[in-house]
Amino acid sequence: QKMKVTKICCIGAGYVGGPTMAVIAKKNPHIKVTIVDINQARIDAWNDSDVSKLPIYEPGLAEIVKETRGKNLFFSTEIDKAINESEMIFISVNTPTKTYGKGKGMAADLKYVELCARNIADVAKTDKIVVEKSTLPVRTAQAIKSILDNTGSDVKFDILSNPEFLAEGTAIQDLLNPDRVLIGGESEDAIESLASVYGSWVPQEQILRTNVWSSELSKLTANAFLAQRISSINAISELCEKTEADVDEVAKAIGMDTRIGSKFLKSSVGFGGSCFQKDILNLVYIARSYNLHEVADYWEQVIILNDHQKRRFADNLISTLYNTVSGKKIGFLGWAFKKDTNDTRESAAIYVADHLLNEQANIAVYDPKVSNEKIQSDLNYLNTRSEEENRNLVQATNDPYEALKDAHAVAIMTEWDEFKTYDWKKIYNEMKKPAFIFDGRNILDKSEMEKIGFEYSSIGK
Ligand code: UDX
Ligand code: UDX
Ligand code: ADP
Repeated sequence: QKMKVTKICCIGAGYVGGPTMAVIAKKNPHIKVTIVDINQARIDAWNDSDVSKLPIYEPGLAEIVKETRGKNLFFSTEIDKAINESEMIFISVNTPTKTYGKGKGMAADLKYVELCARNIADVAKTDKIVVEKSTLPVRTAQAIKSILDNTGSDVKFDILSNPEFLAEGTAIQDLLNPDRVLIGGESEDAIESLASVYGSWVPQEQILRTNVWSSELSKLTANAFLAQRISSINAISELCEKTEADVDEVAKAIGMDTRIGSKFLKSSVGFGGSCFQKDILNLVYIARSYNLHEVADYWEQVIILNDHQKRRFADNLISTLYNTVSGKKIGFLGWAFKKDTNDTRESAAIYVADHLLNEQANIAVYDPKVSNEKIQSDLNYLNTRSEEENRNLVQATNDPYEALKDAHAVAIMTEWDEFKTYDWKKIYNEMKKPAFIFDGRNILDKSEMEKIGFEYSSIGK
């Protein structure tokens, strides 16, 4: 019978768990929502009375946290207690690509998900609905189920797959007005319990009910399709540079075909983010594990093209600067993988920087939301050179003009709106001449920049 949900627990206070639960709490004042995490510092930051210090930056998030925190939204490290008292438990922990063993560099590492399942199995004393919210490879629900079904107790668990489709930077808007909510499961009662939580603000006809496998696979497929569009237009961008076509004109022309649609056709230095690459690698890995090599190769090409796009951006910068960037200062505008987020996972900036550093460039970075510490750790994670070398070669500043002063070139890596409003004349005056701009996001006006005196190059023109 359909369970009345009065208390929800979410394991994992990250980019997905945090915003999603904040919106569920806001829209369901009668439900107590507790977000738990093993990371004490992260929980402390979520509890900071100064909401500008929340661990995640998302437009609109701080306001909702301020409104609901302490009323029906709580952040805690008392994981067992929150599991025990809740009827519904979301698993929203990180599932990075494996960095070791079988499936290294391809498969998702389910270690954290499994730990959560075991944690739930160990402490649950009453029946629970367990909801997988992390992006997971197909058939993960099966693994969670078999752990939960073998506890030896008579506690009953229903497993649901409820993939999250929010994009960072617009998480709150996406959660408030989702295109659809997808719930996959076996038990109709469990599905309806979760549907009623979303039903507080999402029309029932937008809540899709499927089997578990369709739900899990839909998440990977949605991300693969979105990423594929970007790689497709990026492939065309290179062809545009060789002909006299303009990729933005081509994108507009094809996007007006309603069968194609206009979204996700913005050519760029390459897509980043925690999802696209990881999910496609996952899809490729799963396809290969079933010996579907044509399927695997088809999707892998999306990643290969994306790597190529980042690489050729860096190569073009080097060759334009007379084939050497050694000892030259390159100013980076942006480090985040897209605007309006402080997230840098898989950001194109990291790979472009790494490539330029191999050529002994000096890089000065300005990003409105990313700290020097984060930039250093992103580069150190690649293990290409020592931490000391990274520290010496790369420096972030809090002032964009400082980052570009005496630079040989500007590389625009993220499409932050504020970059368009800078005093580009002043920047030009303070740079080394000739002053080059490599606009990896096509956000500046070419003729305006050339009028100032810049040597301007962008993607696909
Ligand atoms: C196509 C383009 O649609 C049209 O814009 C262009 O001017 C000419 O090429 P056409 O080849 O006439 O038109 O037919 P279309 O409806 O695009 O179908 C092409 C093939 O794709 C058909 O074999 C069709 O059965 C198949 N198809 C189409 C699918 O298998 N699945 C689909 O979802 C759509
Ligand atoms: C993505 C999906 O959009 C979301 O539905 C899913 O839940 C998680 O993964 P996210 O990674 O947050 O969301 O951001 P998204 O807006 O999709 O951008 C991903 C990357 O693609 C960014 O680096 C962005 O700059 C790039 N991008 C996006 C382009 O280069 N061109 C485009 O047209 C769109
Ligand atoms: P996502 O983008 O998927 O939300 P994040 O890395 O931002 O990923 O957040 C995942 C969170 O899950 C992290 O804060 C991490 O500390 C937490 N976490 C991972 N494993 C566990 C666990 N076993 N119990 C509780 N929290 C966990």
